[in-house]
Amino acid sequence: MTDFEVRPLAEGERREAFFMLGRALHFPALDDETWERRGAGFPAERRFGAFAGGELIGLAGSAATELAVPGGRAVPAAAVDGVGVRADHTRRGVLTALMGEQLRDCARRGEPLAALHASETAIYGRFGYGIATRAKTLRIHRARAAFRADAPAGGRVRLVPPEEAEKVLPALYHRIGPRRPGMIARGATWWRWTNPRLREGMVAVHTGPDGDDGFVAYRSENRQSFTEPEAGAALVVRDLHAANMAARAALWRFLLSVDLVAEVRAPNRPLDEPVGAMLADPRACETIAVDDGLWLRLVDVQAALSARSYGTGAPVVLEVSDPVLPENSGRYSVSADAVTRTDAPADLRLDVDVLAMLYLGDQRVSGLAELNRIHVLTDDAPARGDALFGSGIPWCGTPF
Ligand SMILES: CC(C)(COP(=O)(O)OP(=O)(O)OC[C@H]1O[C@@H](n2cnc3c(N)ncnc32)[C@H](O)[C@@H]1OP(=O)(O)O)[C@@H](O)C(=O)NCCC(=O)NCCS
Repeated sequence: MTDFEVRPLAEGERREAFFMLGRALHFPALDDETWERRGAGFPAERRFGAFAGGELIGLAGSAATELAVPGGRAVPAAAVDGVGVRADHTRRGVLTALMGEQLRDCARRGEPLAALHASETAIYGRFGYGIATRAKTLRIHRARAAFRADAPAGGRVRLVPPEEAEKVLPALYHRIGPRRPGMIARGATWWRWTNPRLREGMVAVHTGPDGDDGFVAYRSENRQSFTEPEAGAALVVRDLHAANMAARAALWRFLLSVDLVAEVRAPNRPLDEPVGAMLADPRACETIAVDDGLWLRLVDVQAALSARSYGTGAPVVLEVSDPVLPENSGRYSVSADAVTRTDAPADLRLDVDVLAMLYLGDQRVSGLAELNRIHVLTDDAPARGDALFGSGIPWCGTPF
C-alpha cells in the first residue's frame, strides 16, 4: 500500500502535472514547445493531485460547465478531465481517492452533475458514472455520395482562417449549440485548449437567412502512396454543429464537394443525424461504430432529478443506492409535477450509475429492467418509468 495524500494542485505545479498526465495518457510530444502551446489551457484551478513522498503520482481535474437536460434547462455540472495515475503507482487506490475527493468537491460547489469521456469503459461505473449518451462514427464514400434532389439545400458556406474561427466559433456555438440534452456549454478554458487544434485543420461556417447558423471544423489526411496514387484524401470531421437541417445539409454538401477527397469520416456524431437519408444511395454513408459518449454522475440526485422534465403518467418511486455519496441513497417519488424524497414503498430499485443511463433519455427503464440492471418491485413500474423518463436522443458533441 502506498502512502499518499490528495490535495488541490498549486499554481506552480501545473507544468509537472501536465507532463505527468501526458505520460499516463501516452501523448506523443512532451517538450517545452508543447507546453508553450498547450499550457494556457491547463489551469491549476479545480485540479486535485495525489502526492507520495512529495512527488505527484496522480491527477484529476474538472471545469465548471452547464449541461442541457430534458425540458431545456442548463444544469451546473463538472466536466471531468485530466485523469491519470503514474504508471508505477496504479492499482493502489489513487484514482479511487481522487474521484471521491473530486465528487465531494462538486457537491460542495453545488453542481448536481459531473460528466466525463472515458478512455476505457471499465473505470468509472464503480464511482457512480453511467453511459448517458452515445455517438456514431460515419464513413462516407465521396464518389457515391450524390444528394437526393429533394434534400435541403441550405445557404452559403465559407472557409474562415483560424484567427477568425477563434473569434467566431465560441459565440456561434453558444447561440446554436447547447440545447439538446447532453450538450454542454463551452467556457473560455475549453476554447483555449481547442484553438491550437483548430489551427491544424480547416473551419467552414454556414450562413442562412438569419446569419451564421452552423460550422464544421475538420482536417485532412492524405492517403496517397506509391502503390495507391489515386487514393485521395480523407476529411476527418472534428466538430460540426448546426442550428437547423438546412445548415446541417449545406455543411455536409460542402464536405462532400471538396476535390481530391475519397472519403469523409466523422466520429462522435448524433445517433439520429440523417446523413445517409439525404443521399441518393444511402449505403454510401456507413455507420462504422456506435460508442459510448458522455458518462454522467448524479452528484446530487434530488437536485438532478428535479432539474429535468418528465412525461405524463403515474409517478414511480425509485430506490437509489449510492455507496460513494451515501447521502444520495434513499427513495425518490418521480412524477411530471415534482420529485420528492419519500418513505413510500419502492417500485424500482437501482444503483446511481444506472440512474445516469436513464437521466438524459438514452436508455429505457423497461430495457434496463430486462437486463437486470433495475430490480422491479411493482409489475407496471417499468412502463410508468418509460413514460416519465422517455425523451429525445441525447448527444454531447463536445470532446474534453
Ligand atoms: C485508469 C487509471 C487512472 C486508474 O488508476 P488507479 O489508481 O490504478 O485506480 P485504483 O487503484 O483506484 O482502482 C480502483 C479500482 O478500479 C480498477 N481499475 C482501475 N483502472 C482500471 C482499468 N483501466 N481497467 C480495469 N479496471 C481498472 C482497479 O482494479 C480497482 O478495482 P478494485 O477496487 O476491484 O481492486 C490509471 O490506470 C491510468 O492513469 N491510466 C492511464 C490514463 C487513463 O486511462 N486515464 C483515464 C482517462 S479518462
